[in-house]
Amino acid sequence: MISVMLEFPHPVQVQVVSEWFMSLGACAVEVFNSKVETEYPQYTKAEELNTSLWTSCRTFRVLLPHDVSPEDFLMSLASVSKWNQIKILNKVVVEETDWVERVRDNFRPITIGRLYVRCPWHLFPEPSRGKNELVDMIIHPGMGFGTGEHATTRLCLRWLQRTIQGGEKLLDYGSGSGILCIAASQLGCELCHGVEIDLDSIRNAEENKSLNGISNISFFQPMEAPSFCYDIIIANILFHPLVDLAEKFSQCSRIGTRIALSGILYDQAEILKETYEDVGFRFEDTMIENEWCLITGTKI
Ligand SMILES: C[S@@+](CC[C@H](N)C(=O)[O-])C[C@H]1O[C@@H](n2cnc3c(N)ncnc32)[C@H](O)[C@@H]1O
Repeated sequence: MISVMLEFPHPVQVQVVSEWFMSLGACAVEVFNSKVETEYPQYTKAEELNTSLWTSCRTFRVLLPHDVSPEDFLMSLASVSKWNQIKILNKVVVEETDWVERVRDNFRPITIGRLYVRCPWHLFPEPSRGKNELVDMIIHPGMGFGTGEHATTRLCLRWLQRTIQGGEKLLDYGSGSGILCIAASQLGCELCHGVEIDLDSIRNAEENKSLNGISNISFFQPMEAPSFCYDIIIANILFHPLVDLAEKFSQCSRIGTRIALSGILYDQAEILKETYEDVGFRFEDTMIENEWCLITGTKI
């Protein structure tokens, strides 16, 4: 591949020019806009974008296959656009790379207590003395959050290992990749319900469930989640959704239900505890990793 930086003599419509690039053989187009210094907020709706900003683009980077010469590409572009003063600012040969392999290399198996969290392409280690104390967990890194690399997930996984005795019914609210449900099932929970707003995450969680050959986990969107009384509730979300969920968690718990809340920063813990104490929980312990923490309590 060859990466070519192009400059137009004046601002051009990104959409129109990008279509020319692609029709002339480019594999990818990157747009540079000197007037916009930050990315648009992730959740801005397309119709709310100020499209006038995009007319000011003059500089583009295109990725060309190695058999397309940048000079020929420029000539074709001049002929299509009728602009003769388009300049090549620079061109760089991009080394051929196996991107799938590169992405895979970014993931390593992670051991959290007894849990051995690995991707499908990693092998589970051979037991050293005929007995393997490790619990195997396969997580395909996909659209769902939760591969074991984030501190909050690790805090939750450590707490689950301390808390699960066997036979419990567990709710994992904000289940992401399904990693906490999968751990809970492997550690002996009788039934695990994962609730998640994001459909791509639910698909990833379902895939992970089947990779681990587990049948006692179900994933739901919030509106479809059953009314149930749980022995253990775990939620690794963020401070504000956790505040909003206090009443709901109180309704699906009984006296003695254990609760763990994470995804919060250390200085948010006290306010969250107060919110949950108002609906019947008492907090006992705080686990911390870096700036993140997990608070744990019981319904009284
Ligand atoms: C930090 S991730 C946690 C994923 C996984 N449980 C873990 O511990 O790694 C939080 C997840 O909560 C989901 N989420 C956020 N707000 C939610 C809500 N109100 N109801 C259900 N899920 C929610 C997000 O889509 C995301 O997948």
